[in-house]
Amino acid sequence: MPLVSMNEFLPAAREGKYAVGQFNMNNLEFAQAITQAGIELKSPFIFGVSEGALKYMGIEFTVALAEAAAKQSGLPIALHLDHGSSFEVAMKCIRAGFSSVMFDGSHHSFEDNIRLTKEIVKTAHAMGVSVEGELGTIGGTEDDISLDAEKASLAKPEEAIRFYEETGVDALAIAVGTAHGVYVGEPKIHFDIIEQVAAAIPAAIVLHGGSGVPDEMLRAAIKAGAAKINVNTENQVAGTAAIREVLNKDSKVYDPRKYLTPARNAMVEVVKSKMTQFGSVGKA
Ligand code: G3H
Ligand code: ZN
Repeated sequence: MPLVSMNEFLPAAREGKYAVGQFNMNNLEFAQAITQAGIELKSPFIFGVSEGALKYMGIEFTVALAEAAAKQSGLPIALHLDHGSSFEVAMKCIRAGFSSVMFDGSHHSFEDNIRLTKEIVKTAHAMGVSVEGELGTIGGTEDDISLDAEKASLAKPEEAIRFYEETGVDALAIAVGTAHGVYVGEPKIHFDIIEQVAAAIPAAIVLHGGSGVPDEMLRAAIKAGAAKINVNTENQVAGTAAIREVLNKDSKVYDPRKYLTPARNAMVEVVKSKMTQFGSVGKA
């Protein structure tokens, strides 16, 4: 099966009150672990690729890995640019074979965010590529981008409605209190904002910073209307812990397969547990 746009599965997720996971791909082992979890649980999924990961893997390798995953698994898989920063990056990804892009214009003014997102939607839609926008700012750290939790700002429902109406995005990330990276304490999620926005617009509501969010909060977010949930850090933490364990046990290990295999297995377990929490099992 070729890579598909998020519109192949997000409307059904919204309708069926479950969420499809975006799992960030950072290297071959991430791609394999996420795919294996999807195959075992017959779940659709999204490979999220940040600009930092794109730089690390190279665009050709990134697309080749995702295409191999789609071909091998037969699953509906979207290859999605995560937190894209410009029209140029989005177009470069689409040209290379991405089936979906996010434009994160949340650091621009509201009006500029609308204008810039709209341009991307127009071009991406002409090529059958889905688009995610972002409103409000999400705290924490991802790649080299950090934002203090106190400086993060929640999305305003009335702005989210206008943003959707003017841009026509397929999915909308709204800042509701989650953060990127490892949480210190529990997040305070504003489920009422998710509910209000989901009830007012047909686009899929996206929850970023899905790592470390307690299961009951994930369920509550889905019940409120979140149809896409992003997870990156939890896979990084689990994979690295497995590598550390192998290396700490035996300082003579030098074959990468000896520590990358347990890392990959640990990530399969993380992704399977998220797919189960999200309710996407058997939906492929
Ligand atoms: O865009 C990606 C994410 O929002 C992932 O966040 O690393 O906290 O899971 P996370
Ligand atoms: Zn994010």
